[in-house]
Amino acid sequence: MKLLTTKHGINGELTIPADKSISHRSIMFGAISQGQTIVNNFLKAEDCLSTIAVFRQLGVTITEKNEKIYIDGKGFSGLTAPATRLDAGNSGTTMRLVLGILAGSDFTSEIAGDASLNRRPMERVMKPLREMGAELQGIEHAEFPPLRVSGHTLHEIEYQMPIASAQVKSAILFAALQAKGTTKIIEKEKSRNHTEEMIKQFGGQIDIEGRVITLKGGQTLSGQEVTVPGDISSAAFYLVAASILPNSEVILKQVGINPTRTGIIDVLKQMGATIEQIHEDEKNQAADLIVRSATLNACEIKGEIIPQLIDELPVIALAATQANGTTIIKDAQELKVKETNRIDATAAELTKMGASIEATDDGLIIHGPTPLHGAKVDSHGDHRIGMMLQIAALLTEEPVELENPEAVNISYPAFFQDLAQLIKEEQA
Ligand code: S3P
Repeated sequence: MKLLTTKHGINGELTIPADKSISHRSIMFGAISQGQTIVNNFLKAEDCLSTIAVFRQLGVTITEKNEKIYIDGKGFSGLTAPATRLDAGNSGTTMRLVLGILAGSDFTSEIAGDASLNRRPMERVMKPLREMGAELQGIEHAEFPPLRVSGHTLHEIEYQMPIASAQVKSAILFAALQAKGTTKIIEKEKSRNHTEEMIKQFGGQIDIEGRVITLKGGQTLSGQEVTVPGDISSAAFYLVAASILPNSEVILKQVGINPTRTGIIDVLKQMGATIEQIHEDEKNQAADLIVRSATLNACEIKGEIIPQLIDELPVIALAATQANGTTIIKDAQELKVKETNRIDATAAELTKMGASIEATDDGLIIHGPTPLHGAKVDSHGDHRIGMMLQIAALLTEEPVELENPEAVNISYPAFFQDLAQLIKEEQA
């Protein structure tokens, strides 16, 4: 596919599509609660549709009417054995969180994903869930999907997390809700806290003190009405695009600003970006963001901020190709086990376009600024790499051809149309 270009920057206003992490969890919490859950502004992208399909396979009735999703909650014990293997598609969040739910079930089930997900590490979730009493095994390979899960009566654990991962933390929390006793999780670094927030929202009790989370088992949650804010990980592409393209000003509406997710705003501001936050909606933790062209400078990105911008690092690396000086990204080895190896994919594809970027063992080193030029690039089947490359293409004079562009449907099906709108508005 030939990517969009612009000679005049990007301008206009855009409502950012719903948050993927919260959309997944709205279905999961709806299913394991008692009574009905209604979800407003659910993200209808492939990953979240995988979550709906999995819970339908587990016997949950999920319907859509007037742009709202209705879930008839059955409680953990109301889930039923699936007739066929569960299919998580490309979605790591679906697979890992569902494992935590299945760990306490009274049946045996199997779960698999697409070729990418079947290569992603699952030992990180299987280990704590086994410690809690569940039986989990790889069917073809010890650590990779497809997996077989036999649920059991679970007991509490105290778990010191070896990696900063909201997916692992969430799987343990779902298991802990079903367990006897009180579970304690000590996070390595603070990762996104949507699961903790939703336990509270659905009427549960959870204690959080710094990196220590305590949750009593045997709690019954009750269905709620949830409104999903826009996804800051989708807004990220425009935050970078408007910053690095001259003559740009974009208003991004209803973006989720949960502080465990806003690392990209902090880093871009540190680099010199102009980002303003207006119309804050405290209840839904959302705001409108205004971003304008700016001169960016290099910076060092490492340590505890990494989990708060993990999915944004490819597009932050692109921003760094346009910044003055050398940007160093460290402590981001988790990028190697995302939908693709995002360290290698980012370095390889931006190099094809003329960037000066090196992959390291735990991150990237980017020397800027460098002009980018036309090339034939590949999303590697990874939505965030595909969208990052489209933003890079806005900077080139020659055409850029993207292989596997359909990957964007995983989190943002209308991405190319929305971006075209911001280009058209300027040229009109
Ligand atoms: C997610 C957590 C992150 C993130 C992923 C979504 C979530 O993964 O990369 O896109 O919804 O919990 P890890 O928790 O494995 O870092």
